[in-house]
Amino acid sequence: MTDVASKGPQPGDDRPVLTDRQGHPIYDNQNQRTVGARGPATLENYHFLEKVSHFDRERIPERVVHARGAVAFGHFEAYGAWGDEPIARYTRAKLFQDRGGRTEVAVRFSTVIGGRDSSECARDPRGFAVKFYTEDGNWDLVGNNLAVFFIRDAVKFPDVIHALKPDPVTFRQEPNRIFDFMSQTPECMHMLVNLFSPRGIPADYRHMQGFGVNTYKWVNAEGESHLVKYHWMPKAGVRSMTEDDAARIQATELGHATKDLYDSIERGDSPEWELLVQIMSDDDHPELDFDPLDDTKVWPENEFPAKPVGRMVLDRNVSDFFADNEQIAFGTGVLVDGLDFSDDKMLVGRTFSYSDTQRYRVGPNYLQLPVNRPKEGVDVRTNQRDGQMAYRNGASGDNPHVNYEPSIVDGVREAQYPTHDEQGPVIEGRLTRKRIPRANDYTQAGQRYLLLEPWERDDLVHNFVTLLAQCDRPVQERMVWHFLLVEDDLGLRVGEGLGIRPADVAPLRPLASQDLTDEDRKRLEHLG
Ligand code: HEM
Repeated sequence: MTDVASKGPQPGDDRPVLTDRQGHPIYDNQNQRTVGARGPATLENYHFLEKVSHFDRERIPERVVHARGAVAFGHFEAYGAWGDEPIARYTRAKLFQDRGGRTEVAVRFSTVIGGRDSSECARDPRGFAVKFYTEDGNWDLVGNNLAVFFIRDAVKFPDVIHALKPDPVTFRQEPNRIFDFMSQTPECMHMLVNLFSPRGIPADYRHMQGFGVNTYKWVNAEGESHLVKYHWMPKAGVRSMTEDDAARIQATELGHATKDLYDSIERGDSPEWELLVQIMSDDDHPELDFDPLDDTKVWPENEFPAKPVGRMVLDRNVSDFFADNEQIAFGTGVLVDGLDFSDDKMLVGRTFSYSDTQRYRVGPNYLQLPVNRPKEGVDVRTNQRDGQMAYRNGASGDNPHVNYEPSIVDGVREAQYPTHDEQGPVIEGRLTRKRIPRANDYTQAGQRYLLLEPWERDDLVHNFVTLLAQCDRPVQERMVWHFLLVEDDLGLRVGEGLGIRPADVAPLRPLASQDLTDEDRKRLEHLG
């Protein structure tokens, strides 16, 4: 063992030499420079000041949501067709075309509400974000493990997250704040029935599904578009935990899911998922009792079957947490040719939010970092330049003087549209602030409840009652009122746990913010 107090290399020690960031060798890393052995220190202590001032800046802001996560790398392999129906019929995106065609990927799984060091056993949605490094540049599919979301309009995202995050005074997650918000937001019932069932605590990251949640579009070579939803299915199957399982694990380990993913990849047991898509014609589907652009809804699989389009294998761990995990940046705006946005009001809001937060969190040149930039061989010629930490002012063409466009002298030109014309829909309407029609907040939540196995329903009711018991009476009553509209059995059982009968909540009127269906009204009459 090396004696740290002694100066210089020991005989036979051929390890590389410690340096500062200028490449200067460090001769003494144990003592700062002082006047005499007992001080005082002097200000020209370059090594000491560099070392400590860099340490002082080690943290960047953690993600405002999804702060804790685990990253792994691997590849996506396309199937190219369903039987003899080529995927090209629906999308021209190159990564899906060739059977066996491979695209490198980076995946970040995460919890949502807790901070960077919080427990991975929390009842919380899990993020499932995939970056595809394609030959046409990057595509990010930024999803969650649950198929639906709390809200359907991005303007409410800061509110739902504030309600779920710790109280601004006590800094404790408070059930009363959470259910106060949820009780006034009926669209979140479908998400709550998922989140408070065992699916709300996945056993780990390898055994969970992923969903794009929002509605996207696929566009083919003729410029025809279809609406699509994405699903990831784990080959290892889906496993979840109860509160008791979670309490046992987090008593000794806060990062069990990160450890499980890392260890399994280290031992060569590479986790695998299949990617499936549901496809719908690109219109508003008046025949459905929900809007296809509403992310609080699933598309019934008997009408819109989930078709497999490829598989993903994760077989490489990160080499540096900060570079590969903390600085990786996903966003819903990151699409390639053949993939497009829909008018889903959450999706448009998300598309602004991700790159906005990343310019703040990582810095304006976050797309120059190795983990975020397109793969080698993809040209990046933006004419954008400078800013903090710029090191790839990849101007333009071959003439470094021309960093603008258009130019008669040199520089870069615009690309040609892949199809002759832009063939998007013609949209006309009054500027307005309106709920989308067919809100239908309870039907699918009730269907989900009825699909749960008896033990899962018991767990769901138990979880609701445990947290609602800590809430104020008006919040409890309004939640029981919603649950009775979701499904009688759910409302009766949660009500029973809280000592609230249907007759107690019958006088409550519908919220001003909600549209009830005929079925909802019938249920309300029945309450009275
Ligand atoms: C992360 C905003 C809805 C999935 C984030 C971040 C923000 C954000 C600001 C932090 C990003 C970063 O610091 O790099 C929003 C807004 C939403 C919304 C404004 C609604 C309007 C959703 C939905 C999903 C989702 C519906 C799931 C489909 C994720 C994931 C991450 C994330 C997976 C973590 C990405 C990573 O691992 O780095 N979101 N989000 N978000 N969001 Fe959302």
